[in-house]
Amino acid sequence: MTQLGVCYFPEHWDQALWAEDFRRMADMGLSLVRMGEFSWAVTEPEPGSFAFGWLDRAVDMAADAGLSVMLCTPTATPPKWLVDAHPDILAYDAAGRVRGFGSRRHYCFSSLTYRREAARITEVLAQRYGQHPAVTHWQTDNEYGCHSTTRSYSPAARDAFRLWLERRYSDIDALNAAWGTVFWSQTYRSFGDIDLPNLTVTEANPSHRLDFARFSSDQVISFNRAKVDILRAHAPGAVLTHNFMSFFTDYDTFAAAEDLDLAGWDSYPLGHLDQENYSGADKDAYRHQGHPDFAAFYHDLYRRAGRGRFAVIEQQPGPVNWAPHNPAPLDGMVQLWTVEAAAHGADLVSYFRWRQAPFAQEQFHAGLLRPDSRDDQGAVEVRAAAPDAARLASPEAGAARVALLWSYESQWMSEATSGGAGWDYQRLALDWYSAARRFGHNIDIVAPGDDLSGYALVLVPSLIHLSDSAADAFKAATGQVIFGPRTATMGPSLHLLQDGFAPLMPISRTRSQSLPPHVGVGGVYGDVAVTARLWREDVETECAILACYDDGKPLLVARHSLQAFTAVPDRAFLQDVIANALRKAGLTHTPLPAGVRRRSTPHMDVTLNYGRSPAEVDGITLPPARYHFQPKD
Ligand code: GAL
Repeated sequence: MTQLGVCYFPEHWDQALWAEDFRRMADMGLSLVRMGEFSWAVTEPEPGSFAFGWLDRAVDMAADAGLSVMLCTPTATPPKWLVDAHPDILAYDAAGRVRGFGSRRHYCFSSLTYRREAARITEVLAQRYGQHPAVTHWQTDNEYGCHSTTRSYSPAARDAFRLWLERRYSDIDALNAAWGTVFWSQTYRSFGDIDLPNLTVTEANPSHRLDFARFSSDQVISFNRAKVDILRAHAPGAVLTHNFMSFFTDYDTFAAAEDLDLAGWDSYPLGHLDQENYSGADKDAYRHQGHPDFAAFYHDLYRRAGRGRFAVIEQQPGPVNWAPHNPAPLDGMVQLWTVEAAAHGADLVSYFRWRQAPFAQEQFHAGLLRPDSRDDQGAVEVRAAAPDAARLASPEAGAARVALLWSYESQWMSEATSGGAGWDYQRLALDWYSAARRFGHNIDIVAPGDDLSGYALVLVPSLIHLSDSAADAFKAATGQVIFGPRTATMGPSLHLLQDGFAPLMPISRTRSQSLPPHVGVGGVYGDVAVTARLWREDVETECAILACYDDGKPLLVARHSLQAFTAVPDRAFLQDVIANALRKAGLTHTPLPAGVRRRSTPHMDVTLNYGRSPAEVDGITLPPARYHFQPKD
């Protein structure tokens, strides 16, 4: 069963409020409270001198109210005294400036001093609360990488990067070959010669940038693992998690989550619609609901990261404060988001935050309660969602016949090479996910090399490097596979490959061009006129040609059950190709009405209306911001 919870900061409120707060949480249908994520300065006000009384009381009072507790290690906010004593813990930005104290996440993952201090505070907390029967969950840190903090350009990062490179290449000549340093006279004589890829006159070597992205990702993973080891030692039975983010690709969350029991993520559908590169039409249509595929995509992504177990650790409860504009959700959306997460198999949906705080950085961020402690709209909807979320027992993810492949390396490779100003791997993946989800099927997100047998259709928006394990998985796939452009175009160190597709399809690239996003290239698919854009590859191929450009060159080619685009298809074209693949597989291929989405659990079809107007679906009228359960026979 999906548990509901809330993020609470007892240290923000008079202790006289706590007991009543916990009682009201339980009364609302919540069963877990998350605390402590930014509380280092309160817990250790002076170096080595601890003040645990408040947290002891808060944990005990929560337990008395029947709540279980998720405690967070407070390492996202090192206190002032620590920063002043050890300025080397601070990160540097790409312009070489120190990132200072006064907000949060002001640390560098490579600082050995900070690693020592983070381990120390984690150990102190784990020793004190690891055996507390109410503390069922631990969260490491808070949103690793938020505010562009994965990549630090500090002296500590430079030293750690040199060691990382030495471990990876052993021999400097191997690195020179991998990076192609003969170009522009970049040859290095030792690992100690190598700097970070910032502050160069023009673009830094792409292989250097890619390795720095990989290194920075590894630093997050090892930082997290050190905390996990401490928590496991002191809290052996607890569920360990971290709250990952949406629209975030700076480290490999699949790899990071391997050390955790549960992959958490923070869901802010309205903030991210406003902030990210959705079309103007989508922003207008979904301003108060969030994009209909936003939450679903990240539920599916983090379900894969957590090997089947994921949670929404922070759920938007009302307007937030941090996007350029912060509208309120339509009444009903908080309830809908909750039920949708449960339908995707969430262990937990926890709202951020309990009470709106009338001080400091997030004053305009709603909570479930208003600052005067009265119920805000979020509280009303949590009460309504609780029984419905409980009907969708977890783990109830529901089998998927469609998969979409997501690759962190493709994102980093896209950033390190020039694919044209409009090329955005993450956008592409979201667009392909949306195109497929319009047909109402469950979708699994998979990683390169994952077992693909059992899927009727696998979508690969782009996979810039085709590793041997990924190629083997595609060969063993039992269903159809559709590849997007730029797939198999680069080696692991970012060397261009003309014949990179050879293990799967006889395609040889003879030329690539990038185009401004508004420029469409015409073609024909069967007898339908189609448009593609952004990236165009000319190819020589023995594959069957399913679509060609107006000049007759191949736009979509096929070999057995594999198909590959040579440009980014527009939505209508992509949906046609997906519909044909679904039809071939004997699956439904009629799109749902705009704004309507569906998620099926083993016992229930859940249909959700993200639209602003009522939708006619399955013979019923579904009002906006409402969902409908259809039990399966
Ligand atoms: C998250 C963060 C929370 C809070 C929230 C506001 O990114 O983890 O601490 O700042 O945003 O929406």
